[in-house]
Amino acid sequence: VGDNRLAALADDLATHGWATLDGWLAPGLIAALHAEAGAFADTPAGVGREDGHMLDASVRRARLGWLDGATSAQADFLAAADALRAALNARLFLGLFEFEAGFAVYPPGGFYARHRDSFRGAKNRVVSLVVYLDPAWDPAWGGALVIYDGDTATVAAAVTPRAGTVVLMLSEEIDHEVRVTAHERRAIAAWWRVNQSAPERVDPAA
Ligand code: OGA
Ligand code: MN
Repeated sequence: VGDNRLAALADDLATHGWATLDGWLAPGLIAALHAEAGAFADTPAGVGREDGHMLDASVRRARLGWLDGATSAQADFLAAADALRAALNARLFLGLFEFEAGFAVYPPGGFYARHRDSFRGAKNRVVSLVVYLDPAWDPAWGGALVIYDGDTATVAAAVTPRAGTVVLMLSEEIDHEVRVTAHERRAIAAWWRVNQSAPERVDPAA
């Protein structure tokens, strides 16, 4: 992904509060992450990845597990995310520091009700990144990411969760939801945070 596309991405993010980008990660890397998400999803809860679990079943039905960079695919992903952070920061001065990323595997029937990833002033999550991992996605399966126009019911975009597409959102500003999926849906959901306690600190390893 060249500088021009990253500049356009940063502009989109600043103007609309969200943006999509295609072709950011190499297909082979996405395939490896897809497999790791599947292996994680198949690990019985409480075994292996101790943070794999279902949360708040009325709000979200998905299985979540942190990426720790322990595999080469995860390390490559974290490196790519850091390059993206640098590109965004150079243009938007967001002061992005720490990065957190997790696999999110939605089983058939999975969804995530309308929400924001952070609340204004909390200076918690600043920019959210969603990376889709499924190589083929039939829109008839549902599972779209719906982005709302402000706090209205107007849908600004419905994004098909297909590998190759990534979405960026200003975490404090963009209401969004994951519509019910009829098919298992694998993604990475990630966020950059600002570091309030030591803003001059150099970026720590994710
Ligand atoms: C999230 C989220 C969107 C998606 O994990 O917070 O909103 O399309 N994910 O998976
Ligand atoms: Mn979200």
